[in-house]
Amino acid sequence: MLLTVIFGASTLYLIWWILWIAMQHNKYDHIPGPKRASFFLGNLKLMATETIKAGNLGSFFLDLTLEFGDVFVLWRATLPTVVTCDLPAVKEYYTNLKLFKKPKQGYLNLSRIGQTSFLGNHSILSDAGGPNWERKKRIMDPGFKISRLQEHISKFYVIGEQVADDLEKAQIENGFVDFAKVIAPYTIHAISSAGFSVISDEKLKQLSDGATVIADHWVTQFKSSNFFSRTRLAEILGMDGPSRPVAEKQLKYLRELGKQLILDRVESGNFGKANDALDFIIRSNEENGELNMKLSVDDFMTMYEAGNVTTATTLSFFIAQMTRNVDCLEKLIREVDEIWVGRGISRNSSNQDIVAALKDMVYLDAVINETLRIHPPVTVGNRILQHDMKIQNYAIPAGVAFTVSQQVMHHHPQFWKDPDIFNPDRFLHSKDIIPFTFVPFIVGPRRCLGKNFAILEMKVFISIWLSRLTFEKSSSSKEEILTEQSLLVRMLDTKTIVKMRG
Ligand code: HEM
Ligand SMILES: *[C@@H]1O[C@H](CO)[C@@H](O)[C@H](O)[C@H]1NC(C)=O
Ligand SMILES: *[C@@H]1O[C@H](CO)[C@@H](O)[C@H](O)[C@H]1NC(C)=O
Ligand SMILES: *[C@@H]1O[C@H](CO)[C@@H](O)[C@H](O)[C@H]1NC(C)=O
Ligand SMILES: *[C@@H]1O[C@H](CO)[C@@H](O)[C@H](O)[C@H]1NC(C)=O
Ligand SMILES: *[C@@H]1O[C@H](CO)[C@@H](O)[C@H](O)[C@H]1NC(C)=O
Repeated sequence: MLLTVIFGASTLYLIWWILWIAMQHNKYDHIPGPKRASFFLGNLKLMATETIKAGNLGSFFLDLTLEFGDVFVLWRATLPTVVTCDLPAVKEYYTNLKLFKKPKQGYLNLSRIGQTSFLGNHSILSDAGGPNWERKKRIMDPGFKISRLQEHISKFYVIGEQVADDLEKAQIENGFVDFAKVIAPYTIHAISSAGFSVISDEKLKQLSDGATVIADHWVTQFKSSNFFSRTRLAEILGMDGPSRPVAEKQLKYLRELGKQLILDRVESGNFGKANDALDFIIRSNEENGELNMKLSVDDFMTMYEAGNVTTATTLSFFIAQMTRNVDCLEKLIREVDEIWVGRGISRNSSNQDIVAALKDMVYLDAVINETLRIHPPVTVGNRILQHDMKIQNYAIPAGVAFTVSQQVMHHHPQFWKDPDIFNPDRFLHSKDIIPFTFVPFIVGPRRCLGKNFAILEMKVFISIWLSRLTFEKSSSSKEEILTEQSLLVRMLDTKTIVKMRG
């Protein structure tokens, strides 16, 4: 009897599920796209194999765009994702928060590790949107204006010099430099130092070591093709991989360090004096004089998560491109010599003088933008369509996942001449750039909070490095810059040769 009921219920459920999938297919099948390989798995297998071939998810989307056009649909198993590069739709995607919302589940796997909050669901990055997020962003944004950040520029300077020292040391020791290894702790230090006013070497190291275990755990989790190991059940059974307990312990420790920083700031009466990111985090999480400590620590974690790999990756791509476009490198060095060295910029220079020099270094700006165009560290975004809409001749029913890919926008031959050629000069005529086609930090209300922070940091670092040394391609490195999809896109070969300048 019981068995019959269970069997009957499961059969009904199965039928309901199959009908639901068929309905989904029916709803979106008028939109072009690759053929589903199977009813249940959709394009999952194609996505996995082609993403590996293309080097990152965005490049796979670019291939599909060139094949299927400006709007297409892709089936992640039974879930459709619409991908578009149609400019009016892209504009809506970035600017209309009522039409396109961040998915509530979008940062699910980054929301916690085990039972410990990682970014949480309501950090400035992970929050799906709404009045609380709006309030926080409004309060935090002014903290990331150039005029505010320039007060912290000497902290970037100190770190940029340390990287240069380490580059020289590694070259002497090994005869080459693994750039990613050298830079790894320093983009974290930049956030701890310029963002949180942590100065002591010991404390800086504590913070970056703490964060690295967590980062490594995420890469391991991402690489594991075993879906089960990422589920809640796997956690409960302790079958989610050996890195999780260690990462969770480390996360607790790092959150404690963050909490201490915040408490010290508030209790020492120094709150509001440093005017750094930490002050703005605290301010944005205060309501009626009450500080929400959990949310503050979530935002503290978020700065590391959002600001580290992105910046480090861009610097790696920068070096890779410079060693393959020697004429650009020489031109950039001439600008550094003329402006940075010529004006005698040093760690004793005033913040204003450094900012003024950087403002005049227009080629450096163009090189950084061209690096971000060719290699956007975030290659895809993800939103949920809230209402029905029309793109070109296609009616798109609400509820579907939506992707605009930076890689597609940055490489589409419709928007860029010779898209795969590294040519910073295109940014020297920036009037020619079509709105919404250059979006490494995205645009609109959900744009990157740390854009100015990252650009200022990279400009200071690069100017210091090139005033002392130059880069050359290692003879063992391929001409092509190889990447793989990790949590973000990752460069595979980060070897370079460092030469001291005379
Ligand atoms: C080259 C470096 C960077 C790149 C390419 C980059 C890119 C991005 C992108 C594409 C987004 C939107 C994500 C989405 O739609 O889900 C974003 C958001 C964000 N980024 Fe960055 N980022 C960089 C550096 C930084 C740094 C250094 C910080 C902090 C110090 C930072 C903090 C944030 C935050 C807090 C958000 C969330 C903003 C919001 O949702 O309102 N980023 N970033
Ligand atoms: C975030 O929300 C999801 C589901 O909405 C929940 O499972 C998860 O535990 C939440 N994470 C945190 C840290 O609150
Ligand atoms: C920071 O980014 C670098 C480069 O991707 C990475 O090697 C390092 O582990 C990251 N650290 C943290 C704490 O995320
Ligand atoms: C996050 O979770 C989703 C679904 O559970 C999974 O498909 C995705 O690969 C996960 N991302 C990472 C980085 O583990
Ligand atoms: C910076 O100032 C210090 C002390 O005033 C001086 O010893 C040092 O040589 C100066 N450095 C440079 C690069 O000018
Ligand atoms: C480089 O990109 C940034 C946006 O990320 C923009 O503000 C700046 O004007 C660009 N520079 C040039 C020369 O186009």
